[in-house]
Amino acid sequence: MKKIKIGVLVSGRGSNLQAVIDNIGNGSLTAEVAVVISDQADAYALERARTHNIPAVHISARDYKGKREEYDGLLVQELRKHGVDLVILAGFMRIITGTLVKAFPNRIMNIHPALLPSFPGLHVQKAAIDHGVKFSGCTVHFVDEGMDTGPIIIQAIVPVLDNDTEDTLAARILKQEHRIFSRAIQLFAEGKLTVEGRIVKVAGGRTESDDHLFNP
Ligand code: GRF
Repeated sequence: MKKIKIGVLVSGRGSNLQAVIDNIGNGSLTAEVAVVISDQADAYALERARTHNIPAVHISARDYKGKREEYDGLLVQELRKHGVDLVILAGFMRIITGTLVKAFPNRIMNIHPALLPSFPGLHVQKAAIDHGVKFSGCTVHFVDEGMDTGPIIIQAIVPVLDNDTEDTLAARILKQEHRIFSRAIQLFAEGKLTVEGRIVKVAGGRTESDDHLFNP
């Protein structure tokens, strides 16, 4: 199978990037990280990339206030330069524009730490606790021009416990993020994902189940 080339956009610590790198290393993900791009010069994710000899690029957004399309044009240029097939947003803290979305239609994935369409946006672990939901989780979805609105590829759920804080819930969710992001990428690499409207069909996906989950 041909290895797909991934471009990873980051802004911070990059634990999801690390999980992808590790899963490529252990053979569970047939892909290559072609480039890691950060809008923050000091993102630890860039360090992680360098450690693995992956091109690590900082593209400052400082001169692009109110010029999001232009900034995204730079991202597209850099991603194309590295022959990227699939873009993944792994903690990239910018709203992206049509310039990027149209350059990679149904070829950009985002990970979000809640069960979309519940709790889009930021600080969503706290929002889940404050709302009193009994389960939360994470979602990998294709990116469209809305905020956390694109077609859902895969979700994992975790219980919200009585003694959870924002941090403990975030940690429980993060563990699942590290699993499902790579799984979604692998399904893409194997050509198993088809987007029909806002539905993602997964070849060989589940068609039967008699499982139920309860919490408490
Ligand atoms: C994760 O919680 C992800 O869901 C969100 O940003 C965070 C990034 O964490 N989009 P990391 O940089 O991958 O450690």
